[in-house]
Amino acid sequence: MSKPNYPLKLAASIALLCCFTANAASVAPVAAEHGMVVSAQHLASKIGVEVLKKGGNAVDAAVAVGYALAVVYPAAGNLGGGGFMTLQLADGRKTFLDFREKAPLAATADMYLDQDGKVIKGLSTNGYLAVGVPGTVAGMEAARAKYGSRGRAALIAPAIALAERGFVLETGDVDMLLTATADFRKDAPSGAIFLNKGEPFKTGEKLVQKDLAKTLRLISKLGADGFYKGSVGRAIVNASVAGKGIITQADLDQYTVRELAPVECDYRGYHVVSAPPPSSGGVVICEILNIVEGYPLKELGFRSAQAVHYQIEAMRHAYLDRNSYLGDPDYVKNPLERLLDKAYAEKIRAAINPSKAGVSKDMKPGVEPHEGSNTTHYSIVDHWGNAVSVTYTLNGWFGAKVTAAKTGVLLNNEMDDFTAKVGVPNMYGLVQGQTNSIAPGKRPLSSMSPTIVSKDGKPVMVLGTPGGSRIITAVTHAILNVIDYGMNVQEAVDAPRFHQQWLPDLTNVDVFGVSPDTRKLLIDMGHNLGAPQPANHLAAILVGAPSLGGKPHGNNQFYGANDPRRNTGLALGY
Ligand code: DON
Repeated sequence: MSKPNYPLKLAASIALLCCFTANAASVAPVAAEHGMVVSAQHLASKIGVEVLKKGGNAVDAAVAVGYALAVVYPAAGNLGGGGFMTLQLADGRKTFLDFREKAPLAATADMYLDQDGKVIKGLSTNGYLAVGVPGTVAGMEAARAKYGSRGRAALIAPAIALAERGFVLETGDVDMLLTATADFRKDAPSGAIFLNKGEPFKTGEKLVQKDLAKTLRLISKLGADGFYKGSVGRAIVNASVAGKGIITQADLDQYTVRELAPVECDYRGYHVVSAPPPSSGGVVICEILNIVEGYPLKELGFRSAQAVHYQIEAMRHAYLDRNSYLGDPDYVKNPLERLLDKAYAEKIRAAINPSKAGVSKDMKPGVEPHEGSNTTHYSIVDHWGNAVSVTYTLNGWFGAKVTAAKTGVLLNNEMDDFTAKVGVPNMYGLVQGQTNSIAPGKRPLSSMSPTIVSKDGKPVMVLGTPGGSRIITAVTHAILNVIDYGMNVQEAVDAPRFHQQWLPDLTNVDVFGVSPDTRKLLIDMGHNLGAPQPANHLAAILVGAPSLGGKPHGNNQFYGANDPRRNTGLALGY
């Protein structure tokens, strides 16, 4: 074996750093020739890249990463939650898989209200009554069967090995577990897994999940039936009954994945493909982009008061529509044509005062221009040009903070995404309406926005993030950062953000988000500026060059950016 040539390697990496155009204070994006995976946990990213290296396509890698995250990223990676997958295939087909949780058949519109009609705190967020019927396993299996090229067992095997043999916890993994120590102490099956003999795990210790390995083996053998039926299905129902939940075997039996047409729109010569209802993501991203397209953002300059003003106003109007008009398409008619119309964006621009902030409480559904009529991400691209964007979740970190005994499966609290009561804010402060009320079998409105941006039919950007209602604005910022402001993918991910969601009438601004004098100009316009919300963390890939329309570095086609706001993730290519 020849000795590695360290001086040569060092020279190569210096050369690599020197030639990226990095204008802001960001490290260079991770570059690779054949494919790229960006996920929130480094072991999962490595598994995805191994699948690609062995000839699997981006969907195969996405499925393997999905199962791996359920083991190594238990706060959000999951079997007991749900999510969305946006796909743009090498042959040009665009599609969307909805494996969002469903309300149990016994769910009712007022299930979280007391006798006086008041929302009972905690009921939709903690414990078994907060749990929606999980969709992740059905979703992963549907994606693999229709769009993957590899056998189920090969894609689940790495997850089984990590669960069975355990993995060494790094500081980021421990940080995440520490956020829920008190909750793990309250739920014995969770405590048995996520606490080390009743105490928090420490960096360097191993997390072993034998029950989860058993569950994964059953899925590997039987497919979705290994989760929804037999011993695992029974254990979920039994745990639910014991925990005063309402999930029955009939709920598990009737769970189905929906394949839907994604929401699409054009923005300054680029084509955006994103999540349709039951996500509000694609609609709201496109509505914001349509509105700001009419303003010269580039000329106004990055984070000038005027540009920020227009973006805040666009967000305010688009979230009003989100919270008033959108819901599960099987239950409500979503006015997509109207909301996605460029002429509607023009009407909204006409209602935006260039020098004065809108007042959210004075803006209502049914009032012009909002006529009556009726919310962990990973990104993968392979060398064939298949692009896969997946956001899936337990909703809150560690979901409802309950694990069905003997399964190792943490369960979601997705029911909190519904409108528990019209006008009462949910966990993300979203004040939502009737279209998102609870009904049996209905899916709660989501903000998850797995997105693919293309140019001339070819994907140029794949991105998404967690963060509840802030997902939509974080994805929109990243798109604006690369298209309008010419940032490379890492700069676009790193840049501070701001967020406005109609109600409350407050724009949350990241530290270093705007300069003090810009802040003053915005306040003088009437804007209410608030402290940052907990950080999103984007997973983004640019295809072709580190920045849109830029030059590739050598033969590298894929440029990955992991968001430094979370210390567990990794962008990795080969
Ligand atoms: O679907 C939604 O909009 C939320 N359940 C997403 C939750 C989320 O992003 C959690 N991350 N912080």
